[in-house]
Amino acid sequence: MEKGQLLDSINKKWFTECKCQLKKTATRPVPGAGNPSAEIVFIGEAPGKSEDEQGIPFVGAAGKFLNEMLGAIGMKREDIYITNVVKYRPPNNRDPLPEEITACADWLHEELACIAPKLIVFLGRHAMNHFFLTEKISIIHGKLLKKKITGMPTPYFLALYHPAAALYNGSMRETLLDDFKKIPRFLEKIKGEFKNDI
Ligand code: URA
Repeated sequence: MEKGQLLDSINKKWFTECKCQLKKTATRPVPGAGNPSAEIVFIGEAPGKSEDEQGIPFVGAAGKFLNEMLGAIGMKREDIYITNVVKYRPPNNRDPLPEEITACADWLHEELACIAPKLIVFLGRHAMNHFFLTEKISIIHGKLLKKKITGMPTPYFLALYHPAAALYNGSMRETLLDDFKKIPRFLEKIKGEFKNDI
């Protein structure tokens, strides 16, 4: 089965099997979207209002800012894959609870195993803390992280500030843009290392 079909079947399975309590209040699930063969997967927090309405991740203000940043490094949404740690909108866009992240975790891990990206980029601390429990985003943002995590297709991770948090905060916005622009260089480095491993 090719990756796109496999992803469709993973999403279909979790639409019914996911035990997340947010199902009760959200309009619909918001699965990941983009290129199933992407070298980079971005992981956000949870769907917001626009995403809950449309069933597509990052289509609101944060998504527009993300598209701009992708453009700044010569990439388009079709080049990447984007998903969230939590697949249902939390009421009033509150932070997702640990049990909601846990309930959606196997869904996320199956997506990642299927796509097998070379680099996983966290958008915000909720995505980062799922994989790096004790780290602080204010300290590790913009640094290429290498850690072997069981079940993960790549040991390479990058934590960025969340575009929604940075959108209206001048200095955080500058930092996010600077960190984002490092992505092509990091990807080249990773590809070089993957080649050496063969
Ligand atoms: N913020 C997120 O973290 N995810 C989305 O899909 C939209 C906004």
